[in-house]
Amino acid sequence: GIDISKLRSETGFITLDDGYGNTGSCRSAITYIDGEQGILRYRGIPIEELAEKSTFIEAAWLVIFGTLPTTADRDRFAGMLTEHSMLDENMKKHFDGYPTNAHPMAILSAMINTLSAHDPEVWEANDDAGIERAAAVLMSKVRTIAAAAYKSSVGEPIVYPRYDLRYAENFLHMMFSKPYKDYEPTPAVSRALNLFLLLHADHEQNCSTSTVRMVASSEANMFASCSAGVCALWGPLHGGANVAVIDMLQEIKDREIPVAEYVKKVKNKEDGVKLMGFGHRVYRNFDPRSKILRAAADDMLKELQIEDPLLDIAGELAEAALSDDYFVERKLYPNVDFCSGIILRAMGLPTNMFTVMFAIGRMPGWIANWKEIHDDPKGRIYRPRQIYTGPTDQHWIPRDQRS
Ligand code: ACO
Repeated sequence: GIDISKLRSETGFITLDDGYGNTGSCRSAITYIDGEQGILRYRGIPIEELAEKSTFIEAAWLVIFGTLPTTADRDRFAGMLTEHSMLDENMKKHFDGYPTNAHPMAILSAMINTLSAHDPEVWEANDDAGIERAAAVLMSKVRTIAAAAYKSSVGEPIVYPRYDLRYAENFLHMMFSKPYKDYEPTPAVSRALNLFLLLHADHEQNCSTSTVRMVASSEANMFASCSAGVCALWGPLHGGANVAVIDMLQEIKDREIPVAEYVKKVKNKEDGVKLMGFGHRVYRNFDPRSKILRAAADDMLKELQIEDPLLDIAGELAEAALSDDYFVERKLYPNVDFCSGIILRAMGLPTNMFTVMFAIGRMPGWIANWKEIHDDPKGRIYRPRQIYTGPTDQHWIPRDQRS
């Protein structure tokens, strides 16, 4: 092969790849995607198998540590998730400082970074046991922070985690139980939440994961690196798309826009409007997560006897787009965000928590990618180049002579 470093130093040659569409930024053994075939595998195991047989916590272990956990691994990790679910009492002061209506994503990112301040000994531990503990602390506390961010955004008191509940149930408890009434999530809701989180656990070098790796490459700690991932996830072209989809469906419903007319508007690129929840950089056939979630949304709504008109509009939109040349030629298919909002709505989660839910789900992937960088003794700091397009020959002039 060609030695790119040598070529660059000898010729000044730089590759420019807009949006990194065809640039491999790393070698990774975590997640395999074949975008042409619609295949997604965590550590080689098909997502369909995991969705049917596994749980979020088991899948998280698999993603982070590379193998399915033994019973001892599972018990130890689950024990740590329970043990570390509580936040330092001093952290409450931070939550109290946010205005009501603060966006939970802003709180989430800041509070994950704040964990670095409260628990330095956790992220300073460098050996395998220390990293396992840090991963458990982060996964456990992100769930508590997320629920506390929501409570603080609606001006309600924070609900403490319970030690007798499992991961998903504990989150639902912190979100929805009231002091005067204990909340019992139905098995259908816990199952759907588990599935939602599992399907989001990792997705190779997407925008937020690449961000985490970028930060991690400077040897920043796990918590700081993952809090940067939350910021990258927030945008509507990435994790924020699950909110944008619901906004789009709601607009179509409220303004009674015929689906065909909306599709036409998208095709004509009127006001830059896109079909949110459609398209993917890697999947050029279908997004396997979307298939699984669509079926789960149907089941869950039936089981909970909820009729959501937005699901019908989503179905009509998908049908119209999938038979339209514009979308077929560009290989645009529903992605994971197209149906996830419908599931989250049915669980009773407010729209501004949707991207937070994605962040909880993606945490194992971020941690695994951080760990891969951390474990690589030959790793170099990420430092891309650029093609400079500004002026090259200017001089400083006194302010009174500037126009
Ligand atoms: N609706 C309408 N047209 C679209 C859409 C869409 N959702 N997505 C892409 N296109 C069009 C583009 O306008 C472009 O058309 P052109 O060739 O006529 O200019 C063509 O398809 C290629 O699109 P790109 O922008 O080059 O695709 P890219 O790979 O850069 O972007 C992305 C991928 C960001 C996902 C894009 O499809 C999009 O914006 N989708 C909507 C937002 C969304 O659902 N994001 C979630 C992604 S999944 C995730 O993060 C979990």
